[in-house]
Amino acid sequence: MESEGKNNAKKEKIGTQPYKGVRDFYPEDQTLLNYILATERDVCRRFGYEEYHASILEPAELYRGKGADNEEIINEQTYTFMDRGGREVTLRPEMTPTVARMLAARRRDLGFPLRLFSTPNLFRYEATQRGRLREHWQLNVDLFGSDSLAADAEIISIAHALFMAFGASQSDFVIKLGSRSYLNALAAELGLSEENTRAMFALLDRKDKMPQEKFEADMEAIGVPLGKISADNPPEDVAAVLTLLSESGIDNAVFDPSIVRGFAYYTGVVFEVYDTHPENKRALCGGGRYDNLTKLFDDERVPAVGFGLGDVTVGHFLEVRGLIPPYLPSTRVYLAVPSEVHVATVQALAHELRQQGVTVAIDFGEKKLSDQIRQASKHKIPYLIVVGDTEAQTGTFVVRNLATGSDTTLKREQLAPFFTTL
Ligand code: HAM
Repeated sequence: MESEGKNNAKKEKIGTQPYKGVRDFYPEDQTLLNYILATERDVCRRFGYEEYHASILEPAELYRGKGADNEEIINEQTYTFMDRGGREVTLRPEMTPTVARMLAARRRDLGFPLRLFSTPNLFRYEATQRGRLREHWQLNVDLFGSDSLAADAEIISIAHALFMAFGASQSDFVIKLGSRSYLNALAAELGLSEENTRAMFALLDRKDKMPQEKFEADMEAIGVPLGKISADNPPEDVAAVLTLLSESGIDNAVFDPSIVRGFAYYTGVVFEVYDTHPENKRALCGGGRYDNLTKLFDDERVPAVGFGLGDVTVGHFLEVRGLIPPYLPSTRVYLAVPSEVHVATVQALAHELRQQGVTVAIDFGEKKLSDQIRQASKHKIPYLIVVGDTEAQTGTFVVRNLATGSDTTLKREQLAPFFTTL
């Protein structure tokens, strides 16, 4: 290798790190992501939600249309480029505009209330830090066509059910509810300009990130008197949703007037779920009611309520609580061979087992038996069988449990039932 380098002009090697802010998923990582997504799908289906999907690519105008006024997301946080045909394309930074577009396209054929979920990957050009990456997978759960606060309560109950399904207890997380409608009414009552209303939302959104005195001074400066926004008296819509939630046994939901959400499309009750563990401070999940987004596409209003839950923060939530299931590869059994001449024999047995639904990997006999066994253990494959002449002739096999070292002797026809019933 080195001598090659001396003769050639020194070639720059390509780095092995993934692109900034995105992740490589090796089998253990992919298994965890699969577990998170499978748990999410299972919970959504139990609530009667159907899965949908869409492309990563969207026309850039979807995020520039009227109403989509989250300047930060549009101008600074998207991956937007020109395709070869001169169209401006964006890698979706969130799913809500996409699902609103899909809904508007088929409004007449879709029955309401319509319950939908999806688990897309999203791209945001963010300053990367713990809990914030440039690509994440986000469960989106949305209910269309209902103005009832029972719909808001159902959506929040799903968020609650998800954490319980991950093995959490109610004290591990808190659901904080705020109200856009209340704050809009307050802004009207105080006669705030549109600009100052937006400034009030932005201040509330950043409240926890600034000293209390500065928050109070800035609020006063835009015309919101102290004490106007207090946590003591939940607005009517929030109070009604809290009652519905407690009637279904959800005791960890509270009113928090600082919950406003970053996106401007929200119109009613909004909420975020927080980990109560001090090491995982970011919102795990966020959403709320957004009744006007489909108006981007035509004049009809479709009431909507939903939320997004990211895999990164959920991963941290599971990690700090020891709730990540131990890794088990999907391969149940490894067939080792004393030498390369046994490959045909081992392939025949593997074929037979696969036809009966057993997940099997075989060795090609290029390394010593002890190395083959070490590799199987390294991959955490639970069982190993050495397939040589004796085994092939007698039709009797020794199944080794690689974790415990214990052996079980089985006849050929007993092998598949042994692995599939475990
Ligand atoms: P969001 O608050 O931007 O809402 O994202 C929802 C959740 O996705 C966050 O609470 C967080 O867990 C996760 N998340 C967001 N950005 C990142 C990131 N850069 N890295 C890792 N995780 C992230 C929405 O996106 C709304 N569209 C949700 C919604 C659906 N509202 C109604 N329906």
